[in-house]
Amino acid sequence: MAKNILVTGGAGYIGSHTCVELLKAGHDVVVVDNLVNSSQESLRRVEELVGRSLEFRQVDLCDAVALERVFEEHTFDAVVHFAGLKAVGESCEIPLRYYENNLHGTFELMKAMDKHDCRNIVFSSSATVYGDPASVPITEDFPLQTTNPYGRTKYFIEEILRDQCLADDRWRCLLLRYFNPIGAHSSGRIGEDPNGIPNNLMPYVMQVAVGLREEVVVFGDDYETPDGTGVRDYIHVVDLALGHLVALEKLPGLPGCTAVNLGTGQGYSVLEMIAAGREASGREISYRIGDRRAGDIATCYADSAMAASLLGWRAEKGLSEMCVDAWRWQSENPDGYPED
Ligand code: NAD
Ligand code: UFG
Repeated sequence: MAKNILVTGGAGYIGSHTCVELLKAGHDVVVVDNLVNSSQESLRRVEELVGRSLEFRQVDLCDAVALERVFEEHTFDAVVHFAGLKAVGESCEIPLRYYENNLHGTFELMKAMDKHDCRNIVFSSSATVYGDPASVPITEDFPLQTTNPYGRTKYFIEEILRDQCLADDRWRCLLLRYFNPIGAHSSGRIGEDPNGIPNNLMPYVMQVAVGLREEVVVFGDDYETPDGTGVRDYIHVVDLALGHLVALEKLPGLPGCTAVNLGTGQGYSVLEMIAAGREASGREISYRIGDRRAGDIATCYADSAMAASLLGWRAEKGLSEMCVDAWRWQSENPDGYPED
């Protein structure tokens, strides 16, 4: 059944891919985004890809008055809450900005939702809430421990949503803990458009492949992993987007607050990712081994059984498809989206 969905942060990387799937499934979408880390061009392309329109409101979630106006003008069945700042390193330099933006934004959103009788929310959490796990694969009941302010904003928001669901049984919440999203829509029209030097591995690999940067620096090769480099659970962003679609379908039947991992359950090392990037692009990808990056862990991958049993969802796309799609986006949009 078609629903009215509010997507916060919908102009961003994961949000724009999720808007495509929501519109394709027949839902009506309103996006609220302040464009602090995105461009409205992503949403124009979403509309062009699907052949349907969505409504965009340039609003900061911390602006209670502007947010209230959005809720007054629409009746939402559910909210998918992507909006937030996400750079781990930056969060250590300017923690207040991260706490204020991510927590205050969520408070204003939850207050408006409660006031307007919309109490269904799907929240973008992260595997970062597991910190340095004692073992892998990681199940949802692992202890939570975070190592940086960004991660703590995710942890705090999870707890706030959990408390609200405990206090009021009309609330329903799915905390989706993403592992490492990469790739792009297969059209090559939307993808990840990092600001400045990419923090994450795959955008960096792709910028080296396209000639924007010289070499990848591998952050350490002395970890306890098969080749000494860090191992992560990379997941295609379209699989992740589809996870939100099923989460919205299941939410009405899932009382309370439930955390679910969204990963593939398969780990790849940095060197394997560079090799896969080379294969997909047909370009040489120079790299050198550098120091470990502060705060990094050796290995992180999901146990994805809960997503399969609770949501009936599993990731379908493999590593080569992730890299081919990332390369199509990068090679066809070497400078990302044009300036608005
Ligand atoms: P993104 O930066 O591309 O998207 C986030 C969007 O939120 C941006 O469009 C930004 O402009 C918007 N935004 C930020 N603060 C806002 C505010 N106060 N009001 C309105 N809009 C605001 O990031 P993404 O990679 O698409 O991530 C989406 C969500 O998923 C984030 O919450 C992120 O923390 C989480 N997440 C991302 C990853 C990842 O590796 N990409 C992993 C785990 C979790
Ligand atoms: N890496 C390099 N060189 C780089 C960038 C990364 O060697 O230039 C390595 C890292 O050391 C790590 C792996 O590549 O071993 C992946 O690093 P990313 O920065 O791409 O991803 P992380 O796993 O560190 O973190 C990401 C998001 C976090 C999120 C976490 C779990 O950036 O926000 O996944 O979901 F919390």
